[in-house]
Amino acid sequence: MNPMRFGIVVTDPHDWTAGAIKTGFEKLGAKTVYLNFSQLGAGVDHDILLRCKNIDLARLDRLVVRDLGRSGSHDVAFRFEVLCTLQQQGLEMINPPAAILRAANKFATTIALCNAGIPHPRTTVTTSLDEARDALKKYRKAVSKPLFGYKGRDLHLLTPDNHQDMEYILNKQGMIYLQEFLESPATPRDIRVFVVGNEVAGAIYRVAPPGSWISNLSQGGAPLPCPLTEEMRDLAIRANRAVGTVYSGVDLMETSDGLKVLEVNGTPSGRGIFQAMGIDAGEMIASQAMDRIR
Ligand SMILES: Nc1ncnc2c1ncn2[C@@H]1O[C@H](COP(=O)(O)OP(=O)(O)O)[C@@H](O)[C@H]1O
Ligand SMILES: [Mg+2]
Repeated sequence: MNPMRFGIVVTDPHDWTAGAIKTGFEKLGAKTVYLNFSQLGAGVDHDILLRCKNIDLARLDRLVVRDLGRSGSHDVAFRFEVLCTLQQQGLEMINPPAAILRAANKFATTIALCNAGIPHPRTTVTTSLDEARDALKKYRKAVSKPLFGYKGRDLHLLTPDNHQDMEYILNKQGMIYLQEFLESPATPRDIRVFVVGNEVAGAIYRVAPPGSWISNLSQGGAPLPCPLTEEMRDLAIRANRAVGTVYSGVDLMETSDGLKVLEVNGTPSGRGIFQAMGIDAGEMIASQAMDRIR
């Protein structure tokens, strides 16, 4: 019998997390192939042929999506639709496309968290400048985030005195996602919990660099070991389930009122948790994918 063949969707061939997932599969005796979705093609005749470079995607046993990559709205829609079509054809994948989309869209994530009764910061999403102004007055300090933001990019800290920024954002985007600013206890930090299936791999603090309140590692945040509590475990597993991801990075903030979930990352990096704790989430993701096929 041929060994199973897993596709790992990733754009950067040197990506640490994709490498860890690949090694995880190899340890389990499975073969892997990297799929760079910038080399995607679809032929739709009597049948639908979906290929990446010269690989017929329907012949794979399963997909792990590490990162879809994109250069604009057209190709991201194409890449995403290919995933949906493959899923309809019976190819299972983690994470499933609907969950990737829900996790990528901050409004959809907030709705999913709220529906599941998971504590999250108060949030207003609106097309109206008056409503945005009222929300800012209520929150006193607020963060605006791009709907499809990632890696701590394009976040703005707003106060009622600097609402010009808010007007600018609203005009540019046609809407604004505004969230109450949660003050950190000391140095600004958040907690990143890595979830695989119904298990928590581990957690790290991400401490913001001096002078900043944004703690993403790609913005200069430092990963430090974080002892897992029952509250972290419970919230992260519930948030992962609410969004529908199989593996995810759940961002938590500490408040005087307990932990709140900021977001669920559907394509998280496993590097920080490996650096800070020596925990290999790649191996866990590979064995999760294997288990699901059995
Ligand atoms: N409501 C908030 N209050 C305080 N800090 C926040 C808030 N939202 C985000 N941050 C900070 O900004 C970082 C990035 O925010 P997040 O919502 O996770 O977006 P991204 O998808 O860009 O990572 C968080 O990790 C945290 O450090
Ligand atoms: Mg985040």
